[in-house]
Amino acid sequence: MIRKYQPLDLETLRQITVICFEGVSIDKNIEDRFGVISGVDWKQRKMSHIDDDAKANPEGIFVVEIDGELVGYITTRINHWTKIGGIPNLAVHPKFQRRGFGKQLIETALAYLEEAGMLYARIETLEQNQLGSTFYPKMGFDEVARQVHYIRPL
Ligand SMILES: CC(C)(COP(=O)(O)OP(=O)(O)OC[C@H]1O[C@@H](n2cnc3c(N)ncnc32)[C@H](O)[C@@H]1OP(=O)(O)O)[C@@H](O)C(=O)NCCC(=O)NCCS
Repeated sequence: MIRKYQPLDLETLRQITVICFEGVSIDKNIEDRFGVISGVDWKQRKMSHIDDDAKANPEGIFVVEIDGELVGYITTRINHWTKIGGIPNLAVHPKFQRRGFGKQLIETALAYLEEAGMLYARIETLEQNQLGSTFYPKMGFDEVARQVHYIRPL
């Protein structure tokens, strides 16, 4: 069942995030190269992105609940000026992947963004995330750019 996010869900969403993004996170790549920075590990940094999503637009977060257990979520952003909405984060627990929940979450988010008056929806993924080249085009997204991320010590 897909339902709207409630604030009590946040801790579980943070946990799902660190499980799901292990192999597909810029923060994890940075840690692999430079180690933990200033006592804040990649998991804490990545979880803070979900905190940001929950602060920015809690109304636009949807979760998958199976037998009372949260197993996935999607977050969104609205911009009434540009009319381009965003999907910053999406994850489904590995035990529940490949059952169509990811697709349902994207469909739910797209319907929400459209209802909110957005004309386009943006989503980003890493080249190392093989899903990007399959899943998102299948969901109707067109690739418009590739970005490269750099970091250096100071
Ligand atoms: C992306 C994610 C949310 C998809 O969730 P899901 O519930 O497995 O998605 P679905 O079952 O709806 O599958 C959607 C499509 O994704 C692709 N896909 C999903 N898992 C895949 C895998 N292991 N290998 C190849 N393709 C895969 C397939 O095209 C699939 O469609 P199909 O089953 O009809 O072939 C999930 O894989 C995940 O949490 N990944 C880690 C976090 C992440 O990458 N988030 C997105 C960051 S941009």
